[in-house]
Amino acid sequence: MDKFIIEGGTPLKGEVEISGSKNAALPIITACLLAPGEYRLHNIPKLRDVRTIAHLMRIIGAKVELAEHTMLVDTSHADFPEAPYELVKTMRASIYVLGPLLARFGRARVSLPGGCAWGPRPVDLHLKGMESLGAKIELDQGYINARSKRLAGKQIYLDVSSVGATGNIMMAATLAKGTTLIENAAEEPEIVNLGEFLIRMGAKIEGLGSKRIHIKGVESLHPTEFSIIPDRIESGTYLAAAMISRGEITLKGCEPGHLSEVLAKFREAGAEINIGESGVQLAAAGAIKPVNITTAVYPGYPTDMQAQWVALMSIAAGSSVVTDTIYSDRFAHVPELQRLGADVLQKGNSVFIRGVKKLKGAPVMSTDLRASASLVLAALAAEGVSDIHRVYHIDRGYEAIVDKLKKLGAKIERADDGMQY
Ligand code: UD1
Repeated sequence: MDKFIIEGGTPLKGEVEISGSKNAALPIITACLLAPGEYRLHNIPKLRDVRTIAHLMRIIGAKVELAEHTMLVDTSHADFPEAPYELVKTMRASIYVLGPLLARFGRARVSLPGGCAWGPRPVDLHLKGMESLGAKIELDQGYINARSKRLAGKQIYLDVSSVGATGNIMMAATLAKGTTLIENAAEEPEIVNLGEFLIRMGAKIEGLGSKRIHIKGVESLHPTEFSIIPDRIESGTYLAAAMISRGEITLKGCEPGHLSEVLAKFREAGAEINIGESGVQLAAAGAIKPVNITTAVYPGYPTDMQAQWVALMSIAAGSSVVTDTIYSDRFAHVPELQRLGADVLQKGNSVFIRGVKKLKGAPVMSTDLRASASLVLAALAAEGVSDIHRVYHIDRGYEAIVDKLKKLGAKIERADDGMQY
């Protein structure tokens, strides 16, 4: 299995090109199931999760090809509405096929995703949403069996402002009879991007980017061409890499409007940030100031940037507290950061951090996508060499991370660690 070998201590300098958003691309690819035909999707990131969803689409009967960053999806002959356990267990976002399959075929058999590295992640809101639209749901041998005649629009209140449930219900409701109102809907840019794609397919949607999304069902949708937004989490991660290494970088092709809260926190921590025609520039020469964060739904500070902030604060000049209100167990990075010399203590859903002067290289283990990113950041700042094992997690969500970091001057190599897990 692959590992990264990182020698820390080099300030990152230069420009980095931001890829398309993973979390926007995944539901947009599955939304192609809503209407038969050929789609052309631009700015698709080359990632393991994208390959996984492409694999799932092929099982369902679609043709999928990825050339450079354009994906051609042909759903003309998609006719097998199933998502098997083997794929769903590796990527929860596979649940995004449920809404489109149910709306187009009137039936779907999708494996329950189960837990993940940081604890239980239920899909009850997805299921309740489909039931509200008139679907009959049965759970059988680890599978969701869903059936319906034509779905019927309904007013749906989400107890939690779930990104995935909002996306799934929105996709299903596009072909329902009548109007659906999703209340307490997710306002995340990825949901707005999905909604804009559905509108390009002929859907009637209002209220994107707000807590109330209206979807007026239509008789049919049609294929289209579309471009995915830049990845705001990849953007934030490279900014953190520049800051933790006391470097100076420019992000090309990112969307600063999606990063307001994250940029505000970097500024509070002492970074100089300029947003210009050439991109978003961050320079961080001085001491890193301790800054508390609490994750929240968009436009709050994203949970997907929580682990990276803990890494950054581990070398701040003082103490800080990082609290995750979205996922209370998402702290697998904490014991690994301790191995690199960080003074971090988890209690409940908070991490208490006392900044240390220096981190020291050590062998560490990736446990999930964003935890792995935080280990890469810490290793870039640490004195000496760190081996980061099980980096297949990071390949799920960061396109060409070794090449991108190398271009910025980082000393990083990918190697086989010779271990069978
Ligand atoms: C998406 C993102 C993930 C990000 C998360 C929160 C994708 C592919 N993944 O995940 O990177 O960390 O948003 O921004 O876009 N919940 C329920 N019942 C449900 C669904 C969710 O209780 O049926 C809860 C979850 O346990 C969690 C909260 O709602 O506490 C938010 O989860 P949700 O927004 O659904 O996350 P995902 O869509 O799975």
